[in-house]
Amino acid sequence: MTTKKPLRSQEWFGRQDKMGFYYRSFLKNRGFPQDQFEGRPVIGICNTWSELNPCNSHFRTIAEHVRYGILDAGGFPLEFPVSSLGEVTMRPTAMLYRNLASMDVEEAVRAHPLDGVVLLMGCDKTTPALLMGAASADLPTIGVSGGPQLRGVYRGKIIGSGTNIISMSEQLRAGEITLEEFHEAEAGMNRSSGHCMTMGTASTMASMVEALGVSLPGNAAIPAVDARRNELARFSGRRIVEMVNEDLTLSKILTIEAFENAIRTLAAIGGSTNAVVHLLAIAGRIGVDLSLDDFDRLGKGVHCLVNLMPSGQFLMEDFYYAGGLPVVLKSLIEQGLLHEGALTANGRSIGENVTKAENWNAEVITPFAEPFKPDAGIAILRGNLAPNGAVIKPSAASPELMNHTGRAVVFENVEEMHAAVDDDDLDIDASCIMVLKNCGPKGYPGMAEVGNMPLPHKLLQQGVRDMIRISDARMSGTAYGTVVLHVAPEAAAGGPLALVRNGDRITLDVAAGSLHLHVSAEDLAQRRAAWVPPAPAADRGYTKIYIDHVLQADKGADLDFLVGRSGAAVPRDNH
Ligand code: FES
Ligand code: MG
Repeated sequence: MTTKKPLRSQEWFGRQDKMGFYYRSFLKNRGFPQDQFEGRPVIGICNTWSELNPCNSHFRTIAEHVRYGILDAGGFPLEFPVSSLGEVTMRPTAMLYRNLASMDVEEAVRAHPLDGVVLLMGCDKTTPALLMGAASADLPTIGVSGGPQLRGVYRGKIIGSGTNIISMSEQLRAGEITLEEFHEAEAGMNRSSGHCMTMGTASTMASMVEALGVSLPGNAAIPAVDARRNELARFSGRRIVEMVNEDLTLSKILTIEAFENAIRTLAAIGGSTNAVVHLLAIAGRIGVDLSLDDFDRLGKGVHCLVNLMPSGQFLMEDFYYAGGLPVVLKSLIEQGLLHEGALTANGRSIGENVTKAENWNAEVITPFAEPFKPDAGIAILRGNLAPNGAVIKPSAASPELMNHTGRAVVFENVEEMHAAVDDDDLDIDASCIMVLKNCGPKGYPGMAEVGNMPLPHKLLQQGVRDMIRISDARMSGTAYGTVVLHVAPEAAAGGPLALVRNGDRITLDVAAGSLHLHVSAEDLAQRRAAWVPPAPAADRGYTKIYIDHVLQADKGADLDFLVGRSGAAVPRDNH
């Protein structure tokens, strides 16, 4: 028998002195009896509820079910708010604030009398922000995702988050649908609580939470409004109390094996390229040495098994009914592609968790032998245009463009690009390569999801549906195309991307992992000497801190001084 570790919260509530009076007395204003302070694990429910973040707007309900679970198990639940990041509402991009929210989480966890924490996560950036912050504090931690929305339905047709917006706005512009119909489709796309129900970034990150072992099995796919989401929340509340008793801290779960499992799972779900940046950042916090090359190495030969939008046909609701992520994990384990012994939040290994998983719909979750898309890992590109790497999602790209040389058509910023793509005088054809600069972490700022540039109007009219696009931006998880993203170093940091000019020739060769600019080193040096960096977007406030300290995409775009963890030692008394 090991002696149980003393509860951290007892450093506040277990004191029989002036400070003990102080720490307990103010909480008693809610009617907590004295015995509540005498040795129950105090569990923080870290809530990203916000009306400004519609994807997380049902989190008060989820928090209540977590609370019941904590009480069931004899814990003391205390819910607290942290910054919520609404992907669709925040400008210039929610990603600018991911690191800020992570600081909020880390400091709140450390400063308060908590023994364990439940992370309520949903919309894209809330998941990595909370995991990053929690990793730096490293208490026992369990993740509960908010769950995807029900399928979008409009006039009898299934529509997916994001994925159908572009086609509908094109139809409106072309006068093929009325404004009334447009508004009706908006309501039909988002008809329940929850996050985007395609395999976009939110569903990808919820799957990462499950594959990393930070949540209970089944977390990724249960729809937000399915009663079983609330049940999972309650079980998670019960389980976190046990995790505190077992001192099962986050760093015991977030091992290199867990990240390798997550990367393989990312390929098997055809997940968002955004997960690359987020996993790198989370690994950096917990102290796991992960690099871009690990994505290349581990993703090779892993097939995409799920037929979900944006690249496929179905939605997260269908994925849940088919058996959800446990089916995918089991399939990967059968291929020897996961570390099946990796520990998860319920105290069992990931392998043990999925032994009973069954596939109820082989159209939605395809067998490994007949995958929806073969070899679907995210590919890493390098070359003189991206010395520190760039990413492409081959499963979302056009096979005929995977090895292609073309003439660069360059846009210095996103405004210039938008103005140009609608101009029918733009000198461009389908064989050209569109290059967008100054959309990286420092440049945008915040590395916005603008990498999937709209195709030029005149080429769309000719029936062109895909072209190579290259930028230092990210791309929405709900988008697709032959899009090279996350070019590092970014243009605004003086990366070679800044030096590309109209008419340069560029070769993309995905199989060779290369991205080459056909300009000599001497010419590039001359261009560099003449290069004037763009003015930074801010000279004060958080945005200035961000621009001054943000790491490049290949390092997870964290702030340099946030990498690593400080744990949760009890700070000094406050009075
Ligand atoms: Fe929140 Fe898509 S906008 S998950
Ligand atoms: Mg997005």
